[in-house]
Amino acid sequence: MKGIEVFDNFLTHDHRRHIFETAQRSLFQIGWDDSPELDKKHQPCLHSRYNLNDLKNIEIWNPLLEIAKKSKFKKSLTLNNLKETVLNLTKPGDINYTHTHYKRVTALYYINPTWDIEWGGETLFFDDQVKNISFVSPFTPNRLIIADGAIPHTIKAQNYGGPAYRFTLTMFFSK
Ligand SMILES: [Fe+2]
Repeated sequence: MKGIEVFDNFLTHDHRRHIFETAQRSLFQIGWDDSPELDKKHQPCLHSRYNLNDLKNIEIWNPLLEIAKKSKFKKSLTLNNLKETVLNLTKPGDINYTHTHYKRVTALYYINPTWDIEWGGETLFFDDQVKNISFVSPFTPNRLIIADGAIPHTIKAQNYGGPAYRFTLTMFFSK
């Protein structure tokens, strides 16, 4: 899929566990806006902002650089270009809005260690006019997706059969 790259089996089992445990201990804030539309700001997402120290603790940088070598976005995936890192938390039934990230490349990592496809929790990517879905990624533990932030996308929250908390980590890079 143009502008979307999928890398499975990103981290070792031990490393994944460390990131999952770190995610659960993170301090979350209310107010990550998906959309600039004011009427869509009434249910802001829960998120935790990771600084460089947090990134160092989860040791994700070197594995990401390995992936970057294989990526069409490799010029963007540098520490100099890293603008922010956000741990997103989604609860069953949460509302997420379709959005883009202007002039950004995103690296999205699925943190939860186990996932049943029947729980939902997919990431949807749309065509430019948001009329059709061009790519769907089921929530796939240990998957990293690198994507052009200009592609409209959204999260579908898990259903109530799924876990209480769906964790993803997103790193935003300038293009
Ligand atoms: Fe996004």
